[in-house]
Amino acid sequence: MPYKLLFVCLGNICRSPSAENIMNYLIEQAGWSDRIICDSAGTSSYHIGSSPDRRMSAAAATKLGIKLHGQARQFHQQDFQDFDLILAMDRANYEDILSVARTEIYDHKVRLMCEFCSRHTLKEVPDPYYGGPDGFNQVIDLLVDACEGLLTYVINQQ
Ligand code: 4NP
Repeated sequence: MPYKLLFVCLGNICRSPSAENIMNYLIEQAGWSDRIICDSAGTSSYHIGSSPDRRMSAAAATKLGIKLHGQARQFHQQDFQDFDLILAMDRANYEDILSVARTEIYDHKVRLMCEFCSRHTLKEVPDPYYGGPDGFNQVIDLLVDACEGLLTYVINQQ
């Protein structure tokens, strides 16, 4: 059975689709595509069905040369059963995810994305939505760092 990762932010149009697509890019490079599956979701319903934000896609294209694929969906209760690990972009996302669970048995599946960073010291992936291009570039830098650490972690779990 492949290991299943779910990346979660507020809108599922900036940070979590970037995390999903960057992770897939690293997984492909490492040759682990058949053993690790990625998806993303938002805690809110604001942007259900939307493509990734244009400003986020531009930063991913410029900094990494990758396209961001996906359509926003909302995080739901079933995700706790369906995924092995759920990565929250910030603490508000983390709390919102746990509040969807009606039990504590899934708490161990939920982690903060920045726990997996080794070069950056920020504890959360900042919400870039109302800021300028620097915020979107910073999201990419943080997520590359976190995704590299996460890939090592998952490979060591297998
Ligand atoms: P995301 O960014 O959570 O990284 O997708 C946001 C997208 C939309 C909004 C806030 C953050 N919004 O308020 O609509």
